[in-house]
Amino acid sequence: MSARKPIRKAVFPVAGMGTRFLPATKAIPKEMLPIIDRPLIQYAVDEAREAGIDQLIFVTGRGKTAIVEHFDTAFELEATMTERDKSLDVLEPTRILPGNLVTVRQQVPLGLGHAIWCARAIVGDEPFAIFLPDELMIGQPGCMKQMVEAYNAVGGNLISVLEVPENEVSSYGVIDPGQRGFGPGGALTEVRGLVEKPKREDAPSNLIISGRYILQPEVMRVLEHQGKGAGGEIQLTDAMAQMIGQQPFHAVTFAGKRYDCGSKTGFVEATLAIALEREDMRDEVRAMALRLLG
Ligand code: G1P
Repeated sequence: MSARKPIRKAVFPVAGMGTRFLPATKAIPKEMLPIIDRPLIQYAVDEAREAGIDQLIFVTGRGKTAIVEHFDTAFELEATMTERDKSLDVLEPTRILPGNLVTVRQQVPLGLGHAIWCARAIVGDEPFAIFLPDELMIGQPGCMKQMVEAYNAVGGNLISVLEVPENEVSSYGVIDPGQRGFGPGGALTEVRGLVEKPKREDAPSNLIISGRYILQPEVMRVLEHQGKGAGGEIQLTDAMAQMIGQQPFHAVTFAGKRYDCGSKTGFVEATLAIALEREDMRDEVRAMALRLLG
């Protein structure tokens, strides 16, 4: 039996402007770009639900309403499909229990830490998860489920990490690792320090934060007073760093694959990889890829 408060809420910061994908993202949110037939945000929401999290908090901004529409009932669409004897099963992943999707707005892009802080009233006094939907995590079980298992073992705060080549560390939050290889599946690492987007020579390791977090509500109080950090933004990493030593802080090495859908090549890689896994298309896509490679 565990006395830990269960993780029921997830925050999805989706207010970003998606400038890297312009002009595709001029009129639609980058989170709505599809990997095959599901928008990116759907993969993150599916991962949350698989981990038993069903209260979804979207931190949105101007021009982002399509994300909320995606999880609403499309009455005319469903009526027309029913009339034409088409199955509504494809819409199943988009259904949310009434009241389980809440949006708050981040009016000004002041950074990831600020975006999370915008959700403080809805998060309340509970531990909660954070998903950065740009990071597409494919595993069995999914990344958040692996993290919830780790949380049940050690509690406190957890972040997912993975190794990157040393010349990439300056694009990420980087951990200073302590003891490694314990807990469920030997996946846990003690976190002794955190630094956001360090120079290569200052990075404490090549273990980077990969877009999944389980945090205690106290982080909101820290964020309240958090000054600007890397890139002149209010950084979540800086607020988390202040909690080390006050509360347990661990990293989980995710057993699975991660695709950085914030970059164009990462997006193409994810599309190809998922197409090659899907039973309904893998043979055709494989033959096509081989043909294209000549
Ligand atoms: C954010 C976080 C960073 C993390 C990264 C993962 O950075 O600040 O710590 O490693 O996401 O994708 P961003 O990509 O928003 O610059």
